[in-house]
Amino acid sequence: MVNNVQNPSVCVFDSGIGGISLLFECVRRLPRVDFTYFADNYRVPYGNLPRAELIKRIDEIFEEISKSNPSAAVLACNTATAQSIDFLRNKYDFPILGIQPAIKPAVESGGKCLVLATPSTVKSESFKNLLERYGNSNTCVVACDKLAPYIEQNLLNLSATGVENLLPQCKADSVVLGCTHYVLAKKIIQSFYDCPVYDGIVGTADHLKNILGICDHNVQRAQKIAFSGGDSYKNRKVFNYILMQEEVLSP
Ligand code: DGL
Repeated sequence: MVNNVQNPSVCVFDSGIGGISLLFECVRRLPRVDFTYFADNYRVPYGNLPRAELIKRIDEIFEEISKSNPSAAVLACNTATAQSIDFLRNKYDFPILGIQPAIKPAVESGGKCLVLATPSTVKSESFKNLLERYGNSNTCVVACDKLAPYIEQNLLNLSATGVENLLPQCKADSVVLGCTHYVLAKKIIQSFYDCPVYDGIVGTADHLKNILGICDHNVQRAQKIAFSGGDSYKNRKVFNYILMQEEVLSP
């Protein structure tokens, strides 16, 4: 629990625009906390990179983040969480939260569960452990290498056919969106498979609220939301787009 912090500030990180889905939910839950969104849009995708390269890039950004002495940081990226959260938690002394594919509730809902994630997430030890713990013989994992970059480039004019062409053509009873970029195309993915779709957005945002909840009550001034690194103009535009069209993220 973070106590006695006068002006809580949280840094949220993703390779590109995907993490804005999680930023949005965090901002909504913590209206008196300041947020800075860090991204690396010009080097998306991260999802095909080997662990060593991912850690190198993410650590460069966390060096920047640590200078602002944040109350907490959120890895709004399943790939970054899977491959680098242990390294970052060992190195930095502020709380670092991550996001993981919501395999547990999806598998518990029964039937065939289709898990979509980046190749790097699927290869990670933490994903293998998650699958071993919560998956079953009816759980099917597909590494999508082109979907996140497609969404990164096309979100503001997203075509259903463009997304559908990059999805595995199969039937499913539930789908897990194991990449925050996919959450931005949730409506299209949901109607393509015509079944419930799960992601870790709400769970991670609730976790952040639990950590910061107490100090949040002490702050009176308006919330600041800043965008830093990568294409911050585009990231702000995507945030405003989600704000205007909340149904982008609604279940
Ligand atoms: N948004 C990231 C995730 O949740 C990955 C996107 C990328 O490949 O850069 O995994």
